Amino acid sequence: MKKRMIVAANWKMNKNLSEAIEFLEKLNFHIDENDSQSSVIIFPPFIGLESLAGKFNSNNFYLGSQNFYYEESGAFTGEVSISMLEHIGIDYAIIGHSERRSLFYENDNLINKKIRSCLASSINPILCIGESLEQRDSSLTENTLKNQLKSGLKNIDALKLDKLMIAYEPIWAIGTGKTATVDQIYSTHQQIKGILNELFNDESHDLPILYGGSVNDKNAKEIGMIDNVNGFLIGGASLKIETFCEIIDLCNFN
Ligand code: PGA
Repeated sequence: MKKRMIVAANWKMNKNLSEAIEFLEKLNFHIDENDSQSSVIIFPPFIGLESLAGKFNSNNFYLGSQNFYYEESGAFTGEVSISMLEHIGIDYAIIGHSERRSLFYENDNLINKKIRSCLASSINPILCIGESLEQRDSSLTENTLKNQLKSGLKNIDALKLDKLMIAYEPIWAIGTGKTATVDQIYSTHQQIKGILNELFNDESHDLPILYGGSVNDKNAKEIGMIDNVNGFLIGGASLKIETFCEIIDLCNFN
């Protein structure tokens, strides 16, 4: 099977600056020793972004921001704008992560504003969507994802879609050690493709869809082999350099 995977590390609120730099040094060492076919994106906390920018030993490695605010500048205490991120050379941004939706009350309207400001910048957005266990158990998964995609991508020009990635992260699988099954992942990614094609008149077929939710070095190979999985968004298992490098190596499908 030939495909190039995207392996994204969402560090969340973990790793101080020294720890982030140490991780990067070890990652660079690993890349020098082993040829990686995947694109790797590291999402450190804000404080690590500037120090990590431009310091990867591979052109396939990128830096992303876990968050930003959609306004250009102004009285928004505690926030960082997309142009500030552009200024230090950030490549990607996560939008709509379930922790931001639930813990920080980010709603679909805000998520749509963030997507639109990100698409207007040089930074590529990764839109996270996912259902709760109750929604899955009540057969509401497709409907939930449809609503999240419809509102998150409202008023988006199909021409801009090539900048976008979707991360399907079932809420019940995030940080729980409970991964979705191969069948669940395959069929849900197919549903997402169908919804996107419906929303964008068949112009969205190549949009990469990542899977996230308790991906680790034990399940990465099996999930990565699913046809319609283009990569991973990894939380817990991205924090340990050995485990993360193992996952990167497992994603060499060429
Ligand atoms: P997890 O987190 O890998 O720890 O489940 C994934 C995520 O929240 O993106």
